[in-house]
Amino acid sequence: MLAAISRYGARVLPATEDIVARLKAGGELIQGPHIAQFEDAFARRAGSGHAVSASYGRMAFYYILKALDLPRGSEIILPALTFWVVPALAQVAGLKVVFADVDPSTFTLDPASLERAITPATRAVVPTHLYGLPCDMDAIMAIARQHDLRVIEDCAHALGATYKGRPVGTIGDAGFFSFQTLKPLNCYGGGMALVADAAVAARVRALAEHERWPDEKRVVNRLLVGRVQRILIKPWVFSISAFPILWVSSLIGANPDVYLWEEIRALDPLPDVYTERFPNVQAAIGLAALDELDEWTERTRRHARVMDQALGDLPGISVPQAPADRTHVYYQYCVYGPQRDELVVKCVRRGIDIETLHVDVCSDLDLFAGAAVEPAGAPGAHRAAQAMQIPVYSSLTDEQTARVARIVRGVLAQSTA
Ligand SMILES: Cc1ncc(COP(=O)(O)O)c(C=O)c1O
Repeated sequence: MLAAISRYGARVLPATEDIVARLKAGGELIQGPHIAQFEDAFARRAGSGHAVSASYGRMAFYYILKALDLPRGSEIILPALTFWVVPALAQVAGLKVVFADVDPSTFTLDPASLERAITPATRAVVPTHLYGLPCDMDAIMAIARQHDLRVIEDCAHALGATYKGRPVGTIGDAGFFSFQTLKPLNCYGGGMALVADAAVAARVRALAEHERWPDEKRVVNRLLVGRVQRILIKPWVFSISAFPILWVSSLIGANPDVYLWEEIRALDPLPDVYTERFPNVQAAIGLAALDELDEWTERTRRHARVMDQALGDLPGISVPQAPADRTHVYYQYCVYGPQRDELVVKCVRRGIDIETLHVDVCSDLDLFAGAAVEPAGAPGAHRAAQAMQIPVYSSLTDEQTARVARIVRGVLAQSTA
């Protein structure tokens, strides 16, 4: 039997277990020198800015908002299509969330929609480099400068991506990154703020370092969960564990995905696990993984080119757009095609797990009821939510990628014939 292919693949540093064992033996799992070393290496790699680590990418965002000291009740514009936690934390920081639409061809913030969403109360904008493609930053920066808005780039999906040669996170006033298991740099959790201005960065650091150190047991458990996750998504393990559930779900029309994600809820007061410092062991893993990042990015981009070639000529199918001035790192490889849900079921039955929506149309969520949306109904975000996400990631072998391309092409070709 050929192994089934999971929708996700974690980037795993071969030395992970050695690093954990060494730091455990030395009593440096929680506090230690790697935190500062990782921050320095991260900022050096970006080429500019001050890096401050945090318990999550979302907390890096939260500290940036606090450090910018925007007046309470100021409006902040976010894309209608993003991870719900980001606007939720803007609310916790005392800001009023306004949604602008995304361009469904790139999945990123539409500058024209941003411009129309601005009011006299607007103070900040969050260009989200969704799925690994940088936003149209020249247009967004021009609008932001004209209206004196702070620009905070959401780089959770996009570490390694560039816009006109500049790394994401270094174009606006600040950027933030996520180190969750499936993100471009996997530290089994954590995040980083990258801040242009030294005084703002110092305030971010004071906020992040004011938190308590995490409990050692919690960090050890987190690493264990990460280990289990990465075992479960290995093709042969996935084939006999989660995949049968997805396969049966495809027969009965159930959607088990909802159990995979964090429950959408108000985040005030902030959950306990958010208000912790980033531990040394995760920093040590991140520091070592930075050396592998370019290679992982390149492999993913190579797999994306295979998929472009396999699917790009099919009538009615559109593959991801990557304007010539940006590098796409394909955190997700999104394709539009007719009868999406039927196509997904057919692919699952042939052993290829396909995801349909990785983030949220936030303007539809009760949590943000009453938030202004420009334009009403966010049609671009709704269109973007119709895409399907084909497995393209660095831990796939070339043979596995070729198999994904062949099977998905077969299914898509049949349904567009
Ligand atoms: C678009 C986007 N922004 C921000 C985040 C937050 O990152 P973290 O989970 O590290 O808080 C995520 C996480 O998945 C995300 O998808």
